[in-house]
Amino acid sequence: MSQSYEPLGNTELSHTRPASIQRFMFGTTYYPEHWDAETRQEDAARMAAAGVNVVRLAEFAGDLMEPQPGQYDFSFFDAVIEELALVGIDTIMCTPTATPPRWFTHAHPDALRVPESGRREQHGSRQHCCLASPDMRSYSRDITRAMTAHYRDNPCVIGWQTDNEIYCGVDACHCANCESAFRQFVRDKFDGDIDALNRAWGTAFWSQSYVDFDHIQIPLRSAPQYPNPAQELDYFRSLAQTAAHFQHEQVEIIRDTQPGWFVTHNGTFEHVDYRGLFGQDLDFLSYDCYPMFEHDPARRGMGQAYNCDRTRALTGNFMIMEQHAGMGGALHFATDTPEPGELRQMMYRSIAHGADSFVHFRWRTCRFGSEEYWGGILDHDNVPRQRYRELCQEGAELKRIGPEILGTSVQIEAAIAYGDNDATDAHATLTMGILRENKIGEVPHGELFKQGIAVGCVHPADDLSGLKLYVIPHWAYFNPAWVAPLQRFVEDGGVLVVGARSGTRDLNNNVVAETIPGCLRDLCAITVESYGKQNNTTARPLAFAIDGAEPVLSEHWYEELKADAGTEIVATWQTRHLKGTPAVTRNAVGKGAVYYVATYLNETTWQCLQPVLLEDAQLKPQLPGCPAGVEVVQRSDADKSLWFLINHTDGPVTIDDLPHGDELITEAPCTGTLHLEANDVAIVRQAHPVGQG
Ligand code: GAL
Repeated sequence: MSQSYEPLGNTELSHTRPASIQRFMFGTTYYPEHWDAETRQEDAARMAAAGVNVVRLAEFAGDLMEPQPGQYDFSFFDAVIEELALVGIDTIMCTPTATPPRWFTHAHPDALRVPESGRREQHGSRQHCCLASPDMRSYSRDITRAMTAHYRDNPCVIGWQTDNEIYCGVDACHCANCESAFRQFVRDKFDGDIDALNRAWGTAFWSQSYVDFDHIQIPLRSAPQYPNPAQELDYFRSLAQTAAHFQHEQVEIIRDTQPGWFVTHNGTFEHVDYRGLFGQDLDFLSYDCYPMFEHDPARRGMGQAYNCDRTRALTGNFMIMEQHAGMGGALHFATDTPEPGELRQMMYRSIAHGADSFVHFRWRTCRFGSEEYWGGILDHDNVPRQRYRELCQEGAELKRIGPEILGTSVQIEAAIAYGDNDATDAHATLTMGILRENKIGEVPHGELFKQGIAVGCVHPADDLSGLKLYVIPHWAYFNPAWVAPLQRFVEDGGVLVVGARSGTRDLNNNVVAETIPGCLRDLCAITVESYGKQNNTTARPLAFAIDGAEPVLSEHWYEELKADAGTEIVATWQTRHLKGTPAVTRNAVGKGAVYYVATYLNETTWQCLQPVLLEDAQLKPQLPGCPAGVEVVQRSDADKSLWFLINHTDGPVTIDDLPHGDELITEAPCTGTLHLEANDVAIVRQAHPVGQG
């Protein structure tokens, strides 16, 4: 595998991109290998009756398909696929490389991953093999070739999921293969110039300098003490490259065998660069969505919306490849069980926020293994109950509504910066105990969401047109190439909010040489004169206030700013040594403005600033007639807007002043007012006047 290659899927990635999906897929993940023939007997018929048109199969069944090395036996899945096909259900096949069989790990113990502890992992769970291992690579290519050759002419196999959730729930691998891959990665990156590496990594610190690439090691977190953040970010980049290369080998085989197949992968996890080569190899990205991990029902909808919006920021519209079909229970936890109506409500939220197809996890709750309490549509006893009835309702509705959804894009006017793998990994190398930027991004997203503002997430290098407000929470690692598009966004009338610490670290993950905020300094028209972490807000409280208003307490971090002449002071520190200095500034640029916030965003600080920002950006709730607790999302194409209205309160609501059109679920006209029961959803289709996109 060469170090450089052309991606084989989509390179034009944008949050506005509809997924390249021709038919709305609806279904469930299916593990027929967990059940005897008698239990499975009615599966296909029950699925078809529920409107299922696709299942995902085989991602953990490597042992069944290849019981002995090189002896392939696909007869079990052939029969299942055929049975499903007879009732009109297509199959998404998976390469089973998240769980290579025991004969493989026994023969190739070196292919097992080595976490930081140095104790090699064992067979018996999943994600146990290292993607950099040459043996694992050859196993992966062989099984991919065998499966794709076998299913090449089967019209019921319509596409592929590569592996399963790469890097989910596993530590970064530290095996010898990863070390060689890392050495090769930096050799290529620094073009064989070891002095360039020494400069980039700042190896003068603690006598780290290298004379040979072969001496490079994978950094350890605590052996004996803190690692070098520049070295660690390059190691994370090398892991991302390993994941992309591993997947690329499978993608090449799949596409060469049958160009008509789509290829996807279900994310999203750390150290995978979905906006980079990894995502560009796919036709569309898939997301595994588990909103019940949020245990506070009041925050669940908001959290799910944020997660789906973040996924859309990576490559555009996506497929939900897994979403709750019941409670989620494993080793140390169990989530709430979705109440009646909640599965469907959560399904529509995913679709509203960019899902172009939808699959539940899983068909029937397994009776053995580590996910015995991970609820399926059917219970252990195979009796269809409420969750099956809900599936039937979803299926019947999507049969009509699915075609309307394809080709539409989610409309947003405000966005939170998201989607840069380097920025996220850079934070992880040196957190100083501060929340990661993506966690903080949830705050403004959630507050805007609660106000009914059309909010999403967008990468700074993506298309910012159409946005009125763009928030960069606290992106310490910042690429100077993003500044010019941000400048254009503001000149054209956008309101940009830059949070403390942004622009303070360079592409090598070292602190910038310039006065901070570094490359963002001119745009923000301030300098940061001093800063500090707030470790004890009781002993040393800090507060700022917008002129005449009540002061609000800050949290996590503060900065002392010096504003350039002409920069407006929006809020001033009120306490301690910062008293009288600017806390929030505004720099008018072209038709827009840049706000700099000298502390971390939290609910209090954001709530204080939000009215000012909304007014400046002229941002209003999308549908002012929507009561609190009713979510509004608009998906549009040239001909129509689909207004998703999702009631996530515990009681009935009335919504007024709605656009007129057809309500797609009840198939009744909407003349401005709708009533929704708890958990219920409406989708109003508003036709655009001819000639108006
Ligand atoms: C996903 C995974 C599934 C299943 C599910 C529930 O992360 O892809 O295989 O484990 O979670 O835990």
